[in-house]
Amino acid sequence: MNHIPVLLKESVHSLNIKKNGIYIDATYGCGGHTKLILSKLGNYGRIYAIDCDIKTILKYKIMDNRIIYIHNKFSNLKLILNKMIGKIDGIFFDLGISSFQLNNPKRGFSYMSNGPLDMRINQNNKITALNLLKNISEKKISEILKNYGEERYHKKIAYNIKKYILKNKLHNTYDLSNLICSTIIKNNKFKHPAKRSFQAIRIFLNKEIEELKKVLNISLELLKKNGIISIISFHSIEDRIIKNFMKKHSPYYKGNINSKLPLTEKEINYLYYKNNKFKLKIINRVFPSKNEIFKNPRARSAILRIAKKI
Ligand SMILES: C[S@@+](CC[C@H](N)C(=O)[O-])C[C@H]1O[C@@H](n2cnc3c(N)ncnc32)[C@H](O)[C@@H]1O
Repeated sequence: MNHIPVLLKESVHSLNIKKNGIYIDATYGCGGHTKLILSKLGNYGRIYAIDCDIKTILKYKIMDNRIIYIHNKFSNLKLILNKMIGKIDGIFFDLGISSFQLNNPKRGFSYMSNGPLDMRINQNNKITALNLLKNISEKKISEILKNYGEERYHKKIAYNIKKYILKNKLHNTYDLSNLICSTIIKNNKFKHPAKRSFQAIRIFLNKEIEELKKVLNISLELLKKNGIISIISFHSIEDRIIKNFMKKHSPYYKGNINSKLPLTEKEINYLYYKNNKFKLKIINRVFPSKNEIFKNPRARSAILRIAKKI
């Protein structure tokens, strides 16, 4: 199945595209959002299209001299685009992985098909999911499943992963998926028992949370005044980070600091905002419609957050 872009019109609309503007699509993927941005750009407009997966860029590259392709991780944006600081009109993120990556069994992201336990988004990285699981402790595996997958049975699954590794029984995605299915009690007929663990291992392996935290500050530096940051995330950990980041940079917390120590959370956030070099105005939060979720179930957990640099 081809990748269907999520919240396509809403996210591109949020960028308020100027004909000759300069934009960053930090998660190019299959080019769905870039294509729509491109259709609104004039001859002098530009898009920097970033993706850390070279196979994705090569497969979905559009030949258009207004796009500059960059194969790198988005946390390196400042290094790559240092001449563009303060010059970007909008930056867009559609976090996670595409259907192109998920549906290829060789990439090891899916518990629905069998393949090597790989899960690397950037295939230049050396460590695969299997290497990772072999080299970290049972306690660490348990922490990963709990923190990044909110998996209730994290301890039992971690114990069995290590047991399977010792017995040389863990090699591919089906081994892991079957191990999880036989470990936990299935209590939700709509969710595959291995969904949370696969997500957790992928997020940890690809340092997805660190990447996001790093790039938020960098994005603010790159944006010009009135530039837009627009981000689609797919799970609560990411959304919380984005929401808190936007709040901390915006006059969301009004009020004075007049209470005694210790300061309340609101007061700390207000101080943070006041002393911050870069400020944001929160514009909107958008969810996919029922119709979009019906047509593209992958959109189910998506949240788009939009803010403007002021
Ligand atoms: C959900 S897909 C984007 C799909 C795209 N918006 C579309 O509609 O075709 C996310 C893409 O971001 C890339 N990606 C994930 N983490 C990244 C990172 N830290 N740096 C650069 N690219 C990343 C993935 O390789 C994937 O191609």
